[in-house]
Amino acid sequence: MDKLAIQGGARLSGEVRISGAKNAALPILCAGLLSADTLHLENLPKLKDISTSLTLLGHLGMQVSLDDQGGVALQAAHLDKLEAPYELVKTMRASILVLGPILARYGEARVSLPGGCAIGSRPVDLHIKGLQAMGAEINIEHGYIHAKASRLKGARIFMDTVTVTGTENLMMAATLADGTTFLENAAREPEVVDLANCLIAMGARIEGAGSDVIVIEGVDKLHGATHKIMPDRIETGTYLVAAAITQGQIRVLNTRADIIESVLDKLREAGAHIDVGNDWISLEMRTRPKAVNLKTAPYPAFPTDMQAQFMALNCIAEGVGTVTETIFENRFMHVQEMQRLGADISVEGNTALVRGVDKLEGAVVMATDLRASASLVLAALVAEGESIIERIYHIDRGYECIEEKFAQLGASIRRVK
Ligand code: EPU
Repeated sequence: MDKLAIQGGARLSGEVRISGAKNAALPILCAGLLSADTLHLENLPKLKDISTSLTLLGHLGMQVSLDDQGGVALQAAHLDKLEAPYELVKTMRASILVLGPILARYGEARVSLPGGCAIGSRPVDLHIKGLQAMGAEINIEHGYIHAKASRLKGARIFMDTVTVTGTENLMMAATLADGTTFLENAAREPEVVDLANCLIAMGARIEGAGSDVIVIEGVDKLHGATHKIMPDRIETGTYLVAAAITQGQIRVLNTRADIIESVLDKLREAGAHIDVGNDWISLEMRTRPKAVNLKTAPYPAFPTDMQAQFMALNCIAEGVGTVTETIFENRFMHVQEMQRLGADISVEGNTALVRGVDKLEGAVVMATDLRASASLVLAALVAEGESIIERIYHIDRGYECIEEKFAQLGASIRRVK
């Protein structure tokens, strides 16, 4: 199994290009199921989760053709199967995103229940309740969600927890429903907006994406379209924290500042100097970072997907910072690994108290989930000596060419067997 070997100590400098957003691409690929015509997507990131998703769509019978410019053409004129099997869903929870589109277009879908996950229990009850409110008959049998509805009906749906993929699944289903659907307490994440923009380009009638009430007026069918996937705000934030933690100076390209305001605010609080342009962000850190307190919450608040990276920053910061995780109940698995690098962290409930230390020391550590692994890369970049990060298949799920991009910024990083 591949590992990353990182020699800490280099100050990052230079420019790095941000890839298309994984969490926008995953639902948008599933949107291709909603039409018989071709959906062309640009700026698709080359990631393990994307290839898993394309494997699933191919398994269902969608025609998938990739080009070498990061584009893909998807055509779901006919589907051979209406079932997402456990073998594929267990490797990627976002597979649940085929449920709404298949049911809406074909009147029936069987999708394996995703089951547990490293970062928490992650139920899908709100996806199911929403579809039931739209008239679907749903049975849970043999670990599968079996949904049927000759045509979904518009409904008023209140989601009592803000759920990103739940909002996306129901929004996609509602595009082909009979009547108008109101999604209340909807997720406001930029990826929801990107999906809505793609659906609108396909002929869907959607208003309010980006606010907490999304109104979808169902249409009889959707048509083909071309859509460019938005930049990955979490990859953007990860490289900015990497620059801050190494007291470096970098510019991230092909991205947007307006979608990571809460992250930029925390970086400024830590002492970073930030400039933004139309499609770039530059960051310079001239001194040791100052510890920050943060609490994760749905967008536009601080994202849970950046929590571990800021924990790494606090590990070597001046002062003491608290990190509170409110979205997932088990998203502190990086703490033990950071302690192996010499970090001083104590956890009580969903809050970690991080006392900045003068230095971390290289060690062998294990990647446990995607963002935890990214945080270990950041910690390793400032640790004295060499660190080895094991199980980096977690990183490959969400960071395109991570070692090439960090090497380009001057880090000493290589992939080893
Ligand atoms: N929840 C329920 N019931 C549901 C759905 C969610 O109780 O039916 C709860 C979850 O257990 C959690 C909270 O609602 O406590 C929020 O979960 P959400 O559904 O928003 O998470 P998700 O849609 O499964 C997406 C991202 C995650 C990201 C979260 C939160 C995708 C494909 N995944 O997951 O990304 O952490 O939103 O922002 O969009 C990652 O990229 O590393 C990642 C885990």
